Amino acid sequence: MRIVSGIQPTGNLHLGNYLGAIRNWVRMQDEHGAGECLYFLADLHAISQPHQPAELASNTREMVAALVACGIDPERSVLFNQAQVSEHAQLQWLLNGTARMGWLNRMTQWKDKAGKNREGASVALFTYPVLQAADVLLYQATHVPVGEDQKQHLELARDIAQKFNNDFGAGEEVFTLPEPIIPAEAARIMSLRDGSAKMSKSDPSDMSRINLTDDADTIMTKVKKAKTDPEPLPSDKGGLDGRPEAANLVGIYAAMAGTSQAAVLAEFGGKGFGAFKPALGELLVESLAPINARFIELRQDRPALDAILRQGAAKARALAGPTLDRAYRALGLVRG
Ligand code: TYM
Repeated sequence: MRIVSGIQPTGNLHLGNYLGAIRNWVRMQDEHGAGECLYFLADLHAISQPHQPAELASNTREMVAALVACGIDPERSVLFNQAQVSEHAQLQWLLNGTARMGWLNRMTQWKDKAGKNREGASVALFTYPVLQAADVLLYQATHVPVGEDQKQHLELARDIAQKFNNDFGAGEEVFTLPEPIIPAEAARIMSLRDGSAKMSKSDPSDMSRINLTDDADTIMTKVKKAKTDPEPLPSDKGGLDGRPEAANLVGIYAAMAGTSQAAVLAEFGGKGFGAFKPALGELLVESLAPINARFIELRQDRPALDAILRQGAAKARALAGPTLDRAYRALGLVRG
């Protein structure tokens, strides 16, 4: 097994990232041991949208501290940033010859992020999913733990791999087709202010998300102010239909407590949000406090964080080299 996944180092790690992806990263690392997991900061992806160059390196470092605080162990997982492993950008260029404009035009993230201003969007925003394909194909990833919003990008990576193998593999598989691993609960955590929008770093309102760096008071306030409806909680899951905000909070509780939504409703069914919200807030505070404390300690040690990235990049480069060589050769190119 080869497990590969990435996260953009923009803003803070939030509860959607944690429950949708990072918790699975840690679980897979713990189950599969040393050498099988590669996790990276997608700093090359971060330049596809307006960004502050002065902040990118420190955001990347902060995200390393956050991932280690969540349980990623740089001794057992290869933890690195794309920019230090130039093979990612090189493979992307090779795959640009295989990816089709029509495929990229169908990407919902491209449509959402470019909005009405397609002419003004960066080319990088359009070809973003090709770099994402390179990220996983470079390491022959078999499994890619992500939240639901990345599923379409992973399907594209499979399409690119398949077409490349067909067109240039000469009967051999140059690239492995990766499987997305999406959690059963919490695959899509929604905004606390709007049950129809996903929780996101780019939402201008900080009240829409729980950051892993929020202190206990902030978490309690955000949960208490979360948008809800006036009805009490239902006793079964069917009763959450048409109540996206209630469904989101119950889903968060279930994912955080490691139980099912049915079990949460068996406990809280018939009770109002006046009872449920403080319980949810306390559960979040209790679960996130140790992560927060480790993060605050780790983020101060800049040399240690830089060393993690340097060592991770060296390991990643060694793993990437043979596949990149094969891709060059398959295309009739000699790698310098
Ligand atoms: P990013 O940085 O937006 O998010 C990182 C991970 O968190 C998940 N996630 C969520 N899960 C549930 N609910 C939410 N509200 C939520 N918000 C985010 C994402 O699904 C993701 O797993 N393009 C990717 C980064 C990337 C990547 C890759 C991922 C670059 N190359 C290769 C996998 C493989 C992104 O922007 O994720």
